[in-house]
Amino acid sequence: MTAQSSSKDAIGDRLEAARKRTYELVGPLDDEQLNRVYSPILSPLAWDLGHIANFEELWLVQTIGEREPLHGDLGRFYDAIENPRKSRNELPILRDAELRSYLDEVRERALSVLGDAELDPDSADPLLRDGFVYEMLIAHEHQHNETMLQLLQMVDGYELPFSRRSTPPSGSGAIAIAGGEHEIGAPGLERGFAYDNECPRHTVELAPFEIDRSPVSNAAYAAYLAETGAEPPLYWERDGEGGWVDAAMGRREPLDPEQPATHVSWHEADGFARWAGKRLPSEQEWEAAARVAGPDGDNLLGLPGAGQAWEWTASDFLAYPGFEAFPYEEYSQVFFGDTYKVLRGGSWATHREDLRPSFRNWDLPERRQIFSGFRCARDAR
Ligand SMILES: [Fe+2]
Repeated sequence: MTAQSSSKDAIGDRLEAARKRTYELVGPLDDEQLNRVYSPILSPLAWDLGHIANFEELWLVQTIGEREPLHGDLGRFYDAIENPRKSRNELPILRDAELRSYLDEVRERALSVLGDAELDPDSADPLLRDGFVYEMLIAHEHQHNETMLQLLQMVDGYELPFSRRSTPPSGSGAIAIAGGEHEIGAPGLERGFAYDNECPRHTVELAPFEIDRSPVSNAAYAAYLAETGAEPPLYWERDGEGGWVDAAMGRREPLDPEQPATHVSWHEADGFARWAGKRLPSEQEWEAAARVAGPDGDNLLGLPGAGQAWEWTASDFLAYPGFEAFPYEEYSQVFFGDTYKVLRGGSWATHREDLRPSFRNWDLPERRQIFSGFRCARDAR
């Protein structure tokens, strides 16, 4: 077996594993639930499923394989920029049996194109170099799985098909990070997969700072609510005895006091940090701390306690100096500006393969449906 055919086998296996997870997530739901609108800020699951297949068809079948699409210009209904989430259920998207056969037919064609593709590290086509486009597709399906999990929090009685990742308690106190030059960003598109917005790697000058060893816990957030009367996170409900329970998926389960508070908005995170006499870290500080703290054992993110909830940072989502959009402007470039805030790390719903210190997530500062928590920082004293 040549190196290339074994790496094609590995890609095929990972595409299959991603699809298996997608199907496991929707397995317990019926067609009515797949088509239902649970929230104006989240797509019906049928749209996500069709979009996953359509994105695969666009990149792996049409672009790489130069083949015609299966359903003409159906793709325009799955364009995430053209179709705001609140109107996605009114579109003539594929549903039920037709949707399932579309997913399967696209996959069959994508694997046939993969069989003929040249994934040479020196390929003239940057999409194929080191299998970039396949990495992008696998990551895309993983990321939609996380969005689908956001919606699944709203489905009464939903049972997760896998156990939630939890992070070991990371202790109290803060990590001191020296001031000076710090390297930020992914090593480059050519070395391991990264999105365009993580590149190019560059140096930033940071003043010395301290960052908390742990994200803000459920217990700490409850103490803040008790003192300030601030709004509780999404899915928190009163337990009848002055405490709180987690009411996601229509349940009422105890909140683990040590795990990170999740489903808080940027404004709420910022409010807590000020109340605590601290501030949110900038995304550069977060990444510098992750690199200095270094991956310990199983922790792919470097920062202790990271990986259970995304962590809001103080930063707007901006282009790095020398940014070049690749492979398409709509992935990140159209979101740059002061509208969105950056989140770092990853959550229990993020696929393990997508955890890396350079990954930049972003959302509107008022959003709480994402698995968002935060940790605090402060200038060195
Ligand atoms: Fe997408």
